[in-house]
Amino acid sequence: MTTVLVVGGGGREHALSWSLGKSPRVDRILVAPGNPGTASEKHCENLPVGAGDIAGLVAAARHESVDLVAVGPEAPLAAGLTDALDAVGIPAFGPTAACARLEASKAYCKTFLNALSIPTGASASFRDPDLAIAYLEQLPSAPVIKASGLAGGKGVVVAETHGEAAAALRAMLIEGRFGEAGREVVVEERLWGTEVSVLAFSDGTDFVVMPSAQDHKRLLDGDGGPNTGGMGAFVPSPVATGALIAEVSDRIIRPTLDALGETGTPYRGVIYFGLMITDAGPKVLEINCRMGDPEAQAVLPLLESDLFEVMLGCATGSLDGIPVDWSRSASATVVMASAGYPTGSAPPAPITGLEEAKLTGCLVFHAGTDRIEGVTLAAGGRVLGVTALGSTLAEATERAYAGTESISFEGAHYRRDIGRRLPPEARSLPCREVDVG
Ligand code: AMP
Ligand code: GLY
Repeated sequence: MTTVLVVGGGGREHALSWSLGKSPRVDRILVAPGNPGTASEKHCENLPVGAGDIAGLVAAARHESVDLVAVGPEAPLAAGLTDALDAVGIPAFGPTAACARLEASKAYCKTFLNALSIPTGASASFRDPDLAIAYLEQLPSAPVIKASGLAGGKGVVVAETHGEAAAALRAMLIEGRFGEAGREVVVEERLWGTEVSVLAFSDGTDFVVMPSAQDHKRLLDGDGGPNTGGMGAFVPSPVATGALIAEVSDRIIRPTLDALGETGTPYRGVIYFGLMITDAGPKVLEINCRMGDPEAQAVLPLLESDLFEVMLGCATGSLDGIPVDWSRSASATVVMASAGYPTGSAPPAPITGLEEAKLTGCLVFHAGTDRIEGVTLAAGGRVLGVTALGSTLAEATERAYAGTESISFEGAHYRRDIGRRLPPEARSLPCREVDVG
C-alpha cells in the first residue's frame, strides 16, 4: 500500500494529484487541504489540514504511514516542512528551508548568484529607506523594486521613472506594504529581452529539465494590468531552444545545485529559474523552489513517465536512471479568475459547464472552488485552469479556449491571448519539429 501526501490546494496541486493518480505504484493520495477538484480524482481524498500547518502535516504523514510527501507551494518549504519530515524519516519532494531561502529572500538569492558569478541584473539590497533612496538617485535609469520576502507574486514593481521607484521603496520600507516581506528590498537593474521559465527536477546531484513553459503574469490581454500569480501558460516556449537550455544548464543550473550540495543542503524537488533572455545571454530574475502555477497545469499533462517514481527519485537522491519522458505535444492552460482578482474578492457563484468542457477533451483543474450541497462554486481568486493538448500550439490553445468558453460563472474573466500572440509560424509548427531542450 503506497500513500502519497500532496500539500496545497490550488490548480498546481490538482494537476500533481491527477498526475500521481496515473501511477500504477500509488494506491492512495491524501491532499492537504486539497479542493473539490482533488476530492474527485482517482485514489484521492482531501485532509482538513492547512498547507501552513507544519506540525499538523507531519502528524498526518506519520499517522497515515505516508511514503512520500509532495509539497506544492513555497510557504511550507520556507517554513521547514521538508526539514521536519526529514527528522522523522519521511521522504519529501521539495527542498529544505535552507534551499528554499533562494525564493523566500530575494536579497539572499542575489548574494548567492553574485558569489557564483551566475548572470543576473546588478542590484543592491536595503532595509534603510534613506540609503535606498540615495542609491536610487544615482542610478542612470529607473530600476525594478522587489520586496525581498514572499509576496505571492505581487511584490515586484517594474518602475518606469525614478519617482515611481521611490514611491515603491517608501511603500515597502516606510509604510509597510507587504508587511515583513517588504522590510528588506532589492533594487535591481531593469533588464530587457524575452522572459522564459526553466524548471528542473533535481535530486541534489542530477537534474532533468522540463519542457519550458511561457507564463502570462499580467492580468489583461497584451500584458496589461497588474501582475498576478499567472493567468495562463503554454508549452513549449519557442524561446527555449536546445542551445539555450544547454547554456542555462551549464552556466546557471549546474553551478547552483553544486554550490548547494557543497554546503551540505542538496536541493531535492523542483527548481524554477525565471530568466530574461537579454542580448548578453540569459540572466536570472528569480529562483523559485517549487513548480510554477499555472505552469504545472500545462507541463504535467505532457509527462509520460511515472510522476511518483520521479518525485521519489528526487526526494531520495536517486533520480539517475529513472525515466523522465515527455510527450512532444503542445499544451496550453487558460486560467479563469473570479471578479476582483487579483485585488478584491467576489461572492461565491455556481459554476456551469464543467462536464461539457471535459467532453471537449480538456482537463479542468480546480483552484478557487468550493462545493456545497453538490454544487460547485467559484469561491474567489484564480478559480479554474483549463488545459488542452495538441500537435501544434495553435491546436492546443484553440482547444483550451473551446473548453473555457463552455464554462461560466458570475464575474468570470480570463485572458483571450494565451498563446495567440505568437507569430503564425510558431503557432502552426508541429511540436515534433520544435528544437526544444
Ligand atoms: P520576479 O518575481 O522577481 O520574477 O518578478 C516578477 C516579474 O517582474 C518578472 O516575471 C518580470 O516580468 C519582472 N521583472 C523582475 N525583475 C526584472 C528586471 N530586473 N527587469 C525587468 N523585469 C523584471
Ligand atoms: N506562475 C508563476 C509562479 O508560479 O511563480
